[in-house]
Amino acid sequence: MNTRSISTLTFILFVILSCSSTASADGHEDFLDCLFHELHNHNNSISNVVYTPRNSSYSSILRFPIQNLRFTSESTPKPLVIITPEHESQIPPVIRCAKANGIQMRTRSGGHDYEGLSYVSEVPFVILDLINFNEITVDAEKKIAWVESGATIGSLYYRIAEKSPTLGFPAGVCPTVGVGGHFSGGGYGTLLRKYGLAADNVIDARIIDVNGRTLDRKSMGEDLFWAIRGGGGASFGVILAWKVQLVDVPERVTVFTIQKTLEQNATQLVHRWQYIAHKLDQDLFIRIILTRLNYGQDGRNMTIVAAFNSIFLGGVDRLLPLMQENFPELGLVREDCTEMSWIQSILYFAGFPIESREILLNRTQPTVRYFKAKSDYVQKPIPEYGLEGIWRLFYEAEAQEAVVIFSPYGGRMDEISESALPFPHRAGNSYKIQHLVYWEEEEAQNSDRYISWIRRLYSYMALYVSRSPRAAYINYRDLDIGVNNNEGKISYARASIWGIKYFKNNFNRLVRVKSIVDPNNFFRNEQSIPSLH
Ligand SMILES: Cc1cc2nc3c(=O)[nH]c(=O)nc-3n(C[C@H](O)[C@H](O)[C@H](O)COP(=O)(O)OP(=O)(O)OC[C@H]3O[C@@H](n4cnc5c(N)ncnc54)[C@H](O)[C@@H]3O)c2cc1C
Ligand SMILES: *[C@@H]1O[C@H](CO)[C@@H](O)[C@H](O)[C@H]1NC(C)=O
Ligand SMILES: *[C@@H]1O[C@H](CO)[C@@H](O)[C@H](O)[C@H]1NC(C)=O
Ligand SMILES: *[C@@H]1O[C@H](CO)[C@@H](O)[C@H](O)[C@H]1NC(C)=O
Ligand SMILES: *[C@@H]1O[C@H](CO)[C@@H](O)[C@H](O)[C@H]1NC(C)=O
Ligand SMILES: *[C@@H]1O[C@H](CO)[C@@H](O)[C@H](O)[C@H]1NC(C)=O
Repeated sequence: MNTRSISTLTFILFVILSCSSTASADGHEDFLDCLFHELHNHNNSISNVVYTPRNSSYSSILRFPIQNLRFTSESTPKPLVIITPEHESQIPPVIRCAKANGIQMRTRSGGHDYEGLSYVSEVPFVILDLINFNEITVDAEKKIAWVESGATIGSLYYRIAEKSPTLGFPAGVCPTVGVGGHFSGGGYGTLLRKYGLAADNVIDARIIDVNGRTLDRKSMGEDLFWAIRGGGGASFGVILAWKVQLVDVPERVTVFTIQKTLEQNATQLVHRWQYIAHKLDQDLFIRIILTRLNYGQDGRNMTIVAAFNSIFLGGVDRLLPLMQENFPELGLVREDCTEMSWIQSILYFAGFPIESREILLNRTQPTVRYFKAKSDYVQKPIPEYGLEGIWRLFYEAEAQEAVVIFSPYGGRMDEISESALPFPHRAGNSYKIQHLVYWEEEEAQNSDRYISWIRRLYSYMALYVSRSPRAAYINYRDLDIGVNNNEGKISYARASIWGIKYFKNNFNRLVRVKSIVDPNNFFRNEQSIPSLH
């Protein structure tokens, strides 16, 4: 390298470093000045909703809903400010001031994003945290509810059950998930085969757009209303609340979990399940949770456990003949089954005692760990030798706390067209796979080992899962499948790499909607829909 290029390089580095540091420091002060000024004009008492790093509770507010310890380290970029609005009039000023000062804004509802996109950014940013927007009103007679974005799905289930034992809602399994991110990415759980996704049951919404206007379904129009039901809310605005259609559930449902090891023919049973699970009666949902088990002396022996984890929307008397007819190999008997109310089944699937309903209102997850996850869709059964390859990967050291979950599709999912909502994974998919690997604090320095294990699993699976595109579920966010450029105009070509995987052909319609509602790409992140303007 000659002297000239060295001095050019030094100059460039100087410019980059000085620009970024002044930009963040000044941007920060200007942003705060702007915010205080704006909020003041709006007659708001602001001091109790704005947290800067100088506030003693800044760290706990930041940390509270985080579900993935990968994003809690010292080196994780931190927001300049966290705003926890108590009234919706406090939101447009945040948008205006962030726009005016070139600062990114991340909206957080439940904070469960797998890659931390609601609270981490590589460029200067603020968090708009909707934790105080958690009101839920249930009208059992009309079978509808309004639920604010910061509410958790557990609290929604709780409020529904409080009003009626025969109403429910088809959303996720983990009670602490926030409805803001969950519904806007699709959202599914044990009622999926009967009622589809959470997003399939959203009938109205309120959103604040990039110009600070509050819109409902009528005033936002059908294109934007379509986009936010599965296209990810973060690209389009700040969703305040959803109006949802509640669904009928019987007074008694039946649950069971049957565990089989390889020695108990798990491979054959998992293989057989692939031909059956998506074709069963819509009232029957049987997922498989695969883990590794160490046993024997010093845990040196290993096997795989397949847990067939199920809910049936009816009594055991109707379930047993159904199972006898369709899946006799599993050997289900009455003693394996428990009848309970739908709300108790929510606790059962979440791993809580079924009497402790109040837990559904608790926003604190009992166990928060380090993890990395990925998703896949399966259209053709994986042969037994293909499953055995998964078992071999499970025997590797990094997979001690790995989990692979097969969730059956079919039923209602087959009846909804691929373009009805941005979520395109409908007919033709027999099940979805979630790949997960967890690790502990002591291994934090070795995160890369675990992440490369799950990447190996993912490349191994390529042969057996959907391709062109290799489909993925946005709510199981995975930045490995592609990310936007950080600076400047987001490249359409680059965004379509990940966009087609999440949305297939719906990606282009999402881009059209985005280009109209947010032409300057204010609402952006590593996987936000690009605007073509
Ligand atoms: C323990 C655990 C269990 C899970 N179980 C399930 C499950 O059973 N089924 C399932 O489908 N998924 C499940 N998920 C995934 C979950 O659906 C997604 O992570 C979902 O996006 C979380 O929503 P949130 O509001 O909690 O997350 P956040 O991290 O707050 O937000 C996620 C994304 O949505 C954006 N966003 C959030 N709120 C708004 C808003 N109000 N307006 C606009 N954009 C917004 C954020 O900016 C971010 O991009 C689970 C996740 C975890 C961690
Ligand atoms: C402004 O705030 C004061 C004190 O909180 C309140 O009494 C008054 O009604 C508010 N005015 C408006 C227009 O909201
Ligand atoms: C943060 O600190 C400022 C300055 O000390 C104070 O005025 C404000 O009330 C604090 N904010 C919160 C939310 O406690
Ligand atoms: C496993 O399957 C084989 C052959 O299908 C059968 O003979 C055997 O009894 C099964 N084992 C168990 C534990 O069910
Ligand atoms: C563990 O594996 C060893 C070697 O294969 C075997 O001899 C032993 O019986 C196994 N232990 C148990 C508890 O199955
Ligand atoms: C909420 O759950 C957490 C984690 O399990 C627990 O520590 C806490 O005591 C619970 N809070 C209440 C009010 O029950």
